[in-house]
Amino acid sequence: MQGVFVTGTDTGVGKTLVAGALAAAVRRRGARVGVFKPCESGCEQPDGSMHARDAAFLQRMSGSTAPLEHICPYQLREPLAPAVAAEREHISISMEHISDVFHSLCADCDTMIAEGAGGLLVPIADGVLTLDLIRQLGLPVLVVARLSLGTINHCLLTVRQIQSAGVPLTGIVFSRTQEQTTAAEQTNPDVLQRYTDAPLLGCLPFIRPAQKKDPDGLARIAQQTLDVSRILPDIFSPASGFYKS
Ligand SMILES: Nc1ncnc2c1ncn2[C@@H]1O[C@H](COP(=O)(O)OP(=O)(O)OP(=O)(O)O)[C@@H](O)[C@H]1O
Ligand SMILES: [Mg+2]
Repeated sequence: MQGVFVTGTDTGVGKTLVAGALAAAVRRRGARVGVFKPCESGCEQPDGSMHARDAAFLQRMSGSTAPLEHICPYQLREPLAPAVAAEREHISISMEHISDVFHSLCADCDTMIAEGAGGLLVPIADGVLTLDLIRQLGLPVLVVARLSLGTINHCLLTVRQIQSAGVPLTGIVFSRTQEQTTAAEQTNPDVLQRYTDAPLLGCLPFIRPAQKKDPDGLARIAQQTLDVSRILPDIFSPASGFYKS
């Protein structure tokens, strides 16, 4: 299957926003994009109801008609690593079920954008890390990182782990989670490139709340600021059937 598995250097770094923006861009190009968030934790709302916020955002941005229970087969209550949240709810996370749902989603799309929970070595089932899940799904990895102090260390740790596992790495994308410009933000990309050959594939700018609700606007921002032809070559490269100049 073509596409990317979006992981992050940490939780809360912008994986969902980047994945959603990419999905919106694929949709805008006229291709069918599948989205997948195998496990989402912290779904319990104050009134006790459940809401898988990331999966719902990915569904909205992609225009996917798949039911939310397929986009996110494991919706867990507590904001914990999926393996821990599941254990506390006495839910057994089945890698076989995740794989079956993933392949059924893939059958209806041209490319697939999956989002992990937290970072690369987050436990998602008993003895299974996100990295193991990525291997199982067979998608190349896109790393989302903050532009802030600390990101060089987090990026290098994540990239080295991916490379030593022999998993294909698409590259790194930054997400500007704050409006203010910092010295770290100005220097991070250049410094990082001195220590890794991982491709740096752009920086999603600071997105205002109203822009997060507009798939077409977000798609345009993604196409302007991210190297979409290297992230999703089957959709955006000149050789693809979907290419429009
Ligand atoms: N470029 C950006 N502009 C504005 N806000 C951003 C940007 N990137 C991330 N954020 C905000 O930061 C918060 C965390 O981002 P997001 O939910 O995408 O992170 P995540 O890595 O998917 O987190 P999780 O590990 O919980 O899945 C959200 O409120 C999101 O809207
Ligand atoms: Mg997320």
